Amino acid sequence: MLRESIPDLTKCVEPDRVRREVYTDPQIFELEMQRIHERVWIYCGHESQIPKAGDYYTLQIGRQPMLMVRGSDGRISVLYNRCPHRGNMMCGDRHGNAGEFFRCSYHAWTFKHDGKLRSIPMDSAYAGTRFGKDNPDCSMKRAARVENYRGFVFASLSPEGVSLKEFLGEAIVAFDDMCDRSPEGEVEVVPNCFRVIQHSNWKIFLENQLDALHPSVVHQSTGRAAHDIEKKIASQTGSTPLSYHMLSAFATVTIDKWDNFQTLNYPGGHSVLTGYMGLRPQDPDTVAYDKIMIKAYGQKRFEEIVGVNIHHVIVYPGLSVQSPLQQLRAVRPLGVDRTLTEIWHFRLKGAPEAIYRRSLAYYNLVNSPATLINADDLENFWKCHQGLAADAGDWVSFGRHFGRDIEKDGHVESGPNMGTSEAPMRGQMKAWAEYLRG
Ligand code: FES
Ligand SMILES: [Fe+2]
Repeated sequence: MLRESIPDLTKCVEPDRVRREVYTDPQIFELEMQRIHERVWIYCGHESQIPKAGDYYTLQIGRQPMLMVRGSDGRISVLYNRCPHRGNMMCGDRHGNAGEFFRCSYHAWTFKHDGKLRSIPMDSAYAGTRFGKDNPDCSMKRAARVENYRGFVFASLSPEGVSLKEFLGEAIVAFDDMCDRSPEGEVEVVPNCFRVIQHSNWKIFLENQLDALHPSVVHQSTGRAAHDIEKKIASQTGSTPLSYHMLSAFATVTIDKWDNFQTLNYPGGHSVLTGYMGLRPQDPDTVAYDKIMIKAYGQKRFEEIVGVNIHHVIVYPGLSVQSPLQQLRAVRPLGVDRTLTEIWHFRLKGAPEAIYRRSLAYYNLVNSPATLINADDLENFWKCHQGLAADAGDWVSFGRHFGRDIEKDGHVESGPNMGTSEAPMRGQMKAWAEYLRG
């Protein structure tokens, strides 16, 4: 019924443009939730968020309130955050420890960490009824599938579909690059994340992430201010902290330089932006880190690890990962015009504290809601969504360098010196249309 009353989806997406209803129609949003977010692999969180038995963390997958929880056997389950009795939310707090079992705050039904019904007060009241421990309807519902890749936990609400690894495809590099940079091959989450509600459609955020044309426009003022101070400090002291460079790069990397980078766009809407910021300075902190890494991996493997030249990975439809700096943003659509982003960062296990501080600096200076960089983006997201309401044009254009993409080995590369190509957005919308067509 829903399908019949919305615009013909096949006419919504063309290779180089998209109808505006794709961002504004609440019924299309419902369909996106059904056919994309509540079907594919969605990031739940990192296993280090729930280290102890009974630890849980709540999250949203599509329209579904969920929680991930660690059982006493160490296993992680992802459950719907709902009591099967009368539908009460099981965990009202964002995160916490359930103790040895979940206990509903309404009528005290209790559940094991894997969601299975444990007890009902005076359960003889249910004798002879359909209710009881053996009826799965009396247990908390579990996500159909849960998989963990190097500590990053994903769930799919559909019992069918490809494995997590197959879903991630080449975008798996986001997690490998992040973890490999740790001498122990693992990262741990830094509690807690920033949460930002954007007053715009979820796709606008993802499109912006590899939009290499926008940084030198939108973030120029912030970049210039940082660059001026950087120069001043350098003239006074002879050097500047790397953190200034994280901001000044927005001014020094001009539009023409952005064209030197490249995007690799994979099936399923995933994309990788290569290059951008040199992060192998020869300061004492980096030298100390390099030594630890060489000891852990040997020179050859070390060179391979730190030589991975990616800046940003989009795992469509829910993640933006900046692996060399251990940053991850999870996108949780709340409504057609409201999107929650969770902004996380990670610590490289076994790496010196100074290397963590570098990640923290990037987190605070570039990705946090307190920085002008993020604020500049948020303003444009909101303005885009507002503008899309206007009866002044039906299409959103992704035509930059259209027709010049290079198809090879099953993926699409932006052409040479076309780093500002809108190829990533074209790839995202292609995947979107495929998902929606079912
Ligand atoms: S709603 Fe949970 S026990 Fe009644
Ligand atoms: Fe931006």
